[in-house]
Amino acid sequence: MEKREQWGSRLGFIFAAAGSAIGLGNIWRFPTRVGENGGGAFVLIYLLIMFAIGIPVMISEFVVGRKGQKNIVGSFTSIKKTPLWYGVGFMGVLSGFLILSFYSVIAGWGVSYIFKFITGTFSGNVDTESIFVGLITNPTQPLFWHLVFMAMTTFIVLKGIGDGIEKYSKLLMPTLLGLLVLLAIRALTLDGAWEGVIWYLKPDFSEIKADTILASLGQVFFSLSLGMGAMITYGSYLSKKEDIPGNAVLISLADLLIAVLAGFIIIPAVFAFGLEPGAGAGLVFMTLPAVFGAMPFGNFFGFLFFVLLTIAALTSAISLLEVVVAYFIDEVKWDRKKAALIVGTIIFLMGIPVSLSQGGITIANIDFLDLFDKITSLVFLPLGGLMTVIFVGWVWGGKNALEEIRQEGVKFELGNAWLFLIKYVLPIVLLYILISGLFL
Ligand code: PFF
Repeated sequence: MEKREQWGSRLGFIFAAAGSAIGLGNIWRFPTRVGENGGGAFVLIYLLIMFAIGIPVMISEFVVGRKGQKNIVGSFTSIKKTPLWYGVGFMGVLSGFLILSFYSVIAGWGVSYIFKFITGTFSGNVDTESIFVGLITNPTQPLFWHLVFMAMTTFIVLKGIGDGIEKYSKLLMPTLLGLLVLLAIRALTLDGAWEGVIWYLKPDFSEIKADTILASLGQVFFSLSLGMGAMITYGSYLSKKEDIPGNAVLISLADLLIAVLAGFIIIPAVFAFGLEPGAGAGLVFMTLPAVFGAMPFGNFFGFLFFVLLTIAALTSAISLLEVVVAYFIDEVKWDRKKAALIVGTIIFLMGIPVSLSQGGITIANIDFLDLFDKITSLVFLPLGGLMTVIFVGWVWGGKNALEEIRQEGVKFELGNAWLFLIKYVLPIVLLYILISGLFL
């Protein structure tokens, strides 16, 4: 059998996994969620959930992948070969199809904005809302940008681990960080920006309700790319000497840092121009362009911002595609090129109804973007996470997993605490989230 490809270096792996985690979830969703859910109080809860749930689940995914040395389905079934675990793995593959089909449509809007800033569409006092709504309800334009984005994603995945995902992550992630810092400095030095910072981070505990906790849980899962095998797949390319828990902590902190930084760009800028921060999804595509339109050199900064958004989305999209492609390579025995091209094409096709339904061209009034988003984030991801911790804690056995982690001098002092969490605490908590997500 051909030897499985591995990451070329620790840094390459960290960039790729952080690249998966850092995406639209950080730059688009996080700042809005913070603003709407009690500012700093939300950040505190997010932090707590990240450490108590997110990181333990991420460790579980990495260890299953490294042990199984295969895609999500193959990794589960190489440890326990039953139809149940095949099914759990397959749910992850299905999530990859569903999430990427809408993720790429949204990312495509972002790519089109790069060109809108180049051509100066937002200069002066234009109605950014009608530009945005005009774009997403147009039957053909967004499909073109979705195609462009899927083509880039497919190209990178087609190149494989070392020459594709790792190489491009090492190039794109530092670029992303540079752009973020630059834009944050620009936003924070605007007149009136500090009011925004205070609004953004001032803890208001009266805003914390049961659904705030649920919202931050969902956000942690989506943002850290958990529950659908992305980290299992990336873990399968890890060498035995890598410190899994250490890397999981680092990747999660990087994800948090970028999310908070994104807030430092968006919220102060919106405040400085006297606009409403609680504008939900419209914040990035309608409010922010209005801010750039009114700012000196706004076209330049707007251009940079949407390059940044595209880079962040791209490194996440490749991990979504890789989950599915790795499945077809290992289980169906396709070669990488065939798998990437066929799967990339299918996901592009699935994105068509997603995009058309934004303009009301749909079946039975279904908004496919909303539908695919809800099925995955409310059901598939938490269920996938729940099944993964049950698998590691009870089916494979926590002791075996610890042994897999503690190799070649890796200590993992908190191993027993991790084991306790994934065996007893997380199954109950995740079951609770799942049920309340479904019925509340
Ligand atoms: N973590 C990505 C984001 O925050 O945008 C989204 C994502 C990527 C979710 C990969 C799930 C996944 F497997």
